[in-house]
Amino acid sequence: MDRFAGKVAVVTGGAHGIGRATALRLGAEGAAVVVADVDLPAAEEVVGELGASAMAVAGDVTSRESVEAAIAAAVERFGRLDVLAHVAGHNLANREAVEPGDGQWVRQYDFTFVGAVRCIEAALPHLVESGAGAVVLVGSISGVVALGTNPYAAAKAGLISLVSNLAAEHGPTGVRFNVVAPATIATRAFDNRPEALEELKAIYPLRRVGRPEDVAAAVAFLASEDAGWITGITLPVEGGLTTGPGHLIG
Ligand SMILES: NC(=O)c1ccc[n+]([C@@H]2O[C@H](COP(=O)([O-])OP(=O)(O)OC[C@H]3O[C@@H](n4cnc5c(N)ncnc54)[C@H](O)[C@@H]3O)[C@@H](O)[C@H]2O)c1
Repeated sequence: MDRFAGKVAVVTGGAHGIGRATALRLGAEGAAVVVADVDLPAAEEVVGELGASAMAVAGDVTSRESVEAAIAAAVERFGRLDVLAHVAGHNLANREAVEPGDGQWVRQYDFTFVGAVRCIEAALPHLVESGAGAVVLVGSISGVVALGTNPYAAAKAGLISLVSNLAAEHGPTGVRFNVVAPATIATRAFDNRPEALEELKAIYPLRRVGRPEDVAAAVAFLASEDAGWITGITLPVEGGLTTGPGHLIG
């Protein structure tokens, strides 16, 4: 497939996991890919895998200046911007000791929700200029159903409203805005606890957890002209998790 030939994509969080798989997928389909990440050495490794039409930039989605500089660097290098795949993120509570009370909520909201807004605001003028730009945000199924991961879940839920409102507001420009909402994906957060992934398989009708490539394929679809009349939606990528407990009962 060559769905992104001549197009330029920025992938935030493209150095690892779902973002890395997304960068590789978009590159394999012809895009020039800008891998924007706080982990610049790892982003450079992904660029090495991608080949010539790729660039790594340091980009921290918690900083407006950093995000604006990353988008500007992408446009300066490749002359245009067609796709923003905003993947950067994680549940702060899983990675570090977070302060209780307001601080935890404010930091997660800033990282997950305002981080997405920063990326969109920096990219939007260029996406409008390209004529058929696309924004795909990686949300989470925990923003759709309760899985016990607040405040991460609430911040991810905000992305659903964000894309539907932006889709309505900016539809006339031709830019599309969508979310993919993954359930358990085997990324580095599970590296030290493979047994957790093994146990989680049972709750999925498809009897496996997801792979980064499962999400990358959905991001690529929504970013492509194959989804040219799809905007403002949230696409669950969740192995049937939200169909109900029938597979456990039967
Ligand atoms: N893995 C899962 O089970 C799962 C499930 C649902 C949703 N998600 C979402 O998918 C996305 C990717 O998750 P993953 O599992 O691939 O995680 P990961 O940790 O493997 O990759 C996340 C990437 O984001 C980068 N990053 C972290 N903070 C950043 C910042 N401030 N600015 C820019 N980049 C930053 C990291 O360096 C890394 O490259 C996240 O938004 C996560 O919330 C993951």
